[in-house]
Amino acid sequence: MKCVDDFRLRLGKQELVPIVTGGMGVDISTADLALEAARLGGVGHISDAMVPTVSDRRYNTRYVKDKLRQYKYNVANDDKSDVQFDLARLAEATETHVRRTMERKRGTGLILINCMEKLTMNAPKETLRVRLRSALDAGIDGITLAAGLHLGSFALMEDHPRFRDARLGIIVSSLRALQLFLKKSARTRRLPDYVVIEGPLAGGHLGFGMDWAKYDLATIVAEIRAWLGTERLDIPLVPAGGIFTGGDATAFLEQGAAAVQVATRFTVAQECGLPDDIKQEYFKADEDDIEVNGISPTGYPMRMLKNSPAIGDGIRPNCEAYGYLLDAHGRCQYIDAWNREVAAHPGAKKVRVWDKTCLCTQMRNFDLWTCGHTTYRLKETTRALPDGSYRLLSAEHIFNDYRYSKGDAIALPPG
Ligand SMILES: Cc1cc2nc3c(=O)[nH]c(=O)nc-3n(C[C@H](O)[C@H](O)[C@H](O)COP(=O)(O)O)c2cc1C
Repeated sequence: MKCVDDFRLRLGKQELVPIVTGGMGVDISTADLALEAARLGGVGHISDAMVPTVSDRRYNTRYVKDKLRQYKYNVANDDKSDVQFDLARLAEATETHVRRTMERKRGTGLILINCMEKLTMNAPKETLRVRLRSALDAGIDGITLAAGLHLGSFALMEDHPRFRDARLGIIVSSLRALQLFLKKSARTRRLPDYVVIEGPLAGGHLGFGMDWAKYDLATIVAEIRAWLGTERLDIPLVPAGGIFTGGDATAFLEQGAAAVQVATRFTVAQECGLPDDIKQEYFKADEDDIEVNGISPTGYPMRMLKNSPAIGDGIRPNCEAYGYLLDAHGRCQYIDAWNREVAAHPGAKKVRVWDKTCLCTQMRNFDLWTCGHTTYRLKETTRALPDGSYRLLSAEHIFNDYRYSKGDAIALPPG
């Protein structure tokens, strides 16, 4: 019986262990987590979601405070179109995060940055251009363009000196999305170096509608593989979503996948950015405790634990400090939902908003516990402690379990 270590991911001249840790914003896939994957010869993702906020937490910068001070006059105003990101500061924050991560890189693996294109930041094109280019400037090994696929993203980097040598990949959930991307970026005469195919069991936002359960990752991968074959395109495919064991991963590799992208198993790693008490919530969850709902103001379905404090919370929109989801006209679905509830409950000290959430604030505060479908199995991967809690794992342990375990086996940490 084979295991993941019998395979290698080939990207250009480089040979890698075919395990990719997925990007998890905001600062859930920390630099520490990504660096472990790279040290062990695989591929680790950091995330560029809300990077100024992450920089403040990690590197003692003051981007959020300064932005809030600048726009404080607008806090009570429903119209957020004034609230813009300073592009120079955004570049500086991205460069700080990437450079500080790359300086610590050891081993033969890669560090990529997951770039969430649905963070429209009140100026979608300009802010995305800055985020992409400053990550390249700061020496990132590559960029994964994540869901919300901005079809013009390659063009935004086209004249960057690293456009052809950095690894550039995309995440899609359907053949159609891939076809669209290839068509729109054909003019740049550059194919993606890899395509992550994210199925319906993944964490975070889903590239499916609320009918996500009708879809199946293996079927989508086979469909994309067959089409690439007929087009004579050789692009490494990286399935993601619900790959829980080394055996699951090996099955995809045996069917021709170049690598697998995994995330949920790493949410309970010591190196993961979630606070430790929240990691215990992930361990404790049963299948019934997980839902896919529509509360993300991006409009994409999102999977999360039902007991996330964010659900039903009604905080005042915090766009002056954050504002990552403001569209090109300074609007966000949460602002509308919050205003509706405030108008319906005149004089109330606090309102509840059930249909949308203030995603920026809730993700920043780790109050929205997004997770993959297989989260309810995490307790199988460790040992229970006498007080009823579960032992956290090292990223190295989880990585090596994927790499070496066969069949349904999951290696437990030493007793
Ligand atoms: C807690 C969590 C947060 C995530 N956040 C993001 C994100 O910010 N951007 C993104 O493209 N994918 C995100 N994902 C998806 C992962 O990168 C990955 O593709 C997917 O979850 C893999 O499936 P698995 O979790 O079943 O292993 C997230 C996943 C989890 C579990």
